[in-house]
Amino acid sequence: MQAYFLENNAPVDNEALRAVGVLAETLPIEPSGHQPRLDELMHERGYATQDEVQLSPEMDNLESICAKFIDEHLHEDDEVRFVLAGAGIFDIRSQDDVWMRLEVGPGDLIIVPKGLHHRFMLTEAKHIHCVRLFKDPAGWVPVYR
Ligand SMILES: [Fe+2]
Repeated sequence: MQAYFLENNAPVDNEALRAVGVLAETLPIEPSGHQPRLDELMHERGYATQDEVQLSPEMDNLESICAKFIDEHLHEDDEVRFVLAGAGIFDIRSQDDVWMRLEVGPGDLIIVPKGLHHRFMLTEAKHIHCVRLFKDPAGWVPVYR
């Protein structure tokens, strides 16, 4: 995972992420490597459901899906993603309300806590395959800033 401030490319450290409640870790891709950690997070944080989501260039509705997450928004539930394949970009507001850019790829786990403003976009390859954990799918409605 690459993490840097968008305004000056300075590296974002774990402390800056922790300050706004973001968790970022790297786990093995194979299920036996990451599932125990995901189970632990479900237990600790009360996530009830796990599923997988894929976005790829062949999808007819790719643009309309991506359009929902490109504008700055928050959710009333945590956004938990473990990347199995592909790549994505999360821009997340820092404690000082500037953008921290996190470029995620295979093996990256990220939790954007509920209530924190962020936006999401694909890279040029337009492909990502993620595991999601959530408490309630209704929490997935974006609330725009
Ligand atoms: Fe989101």
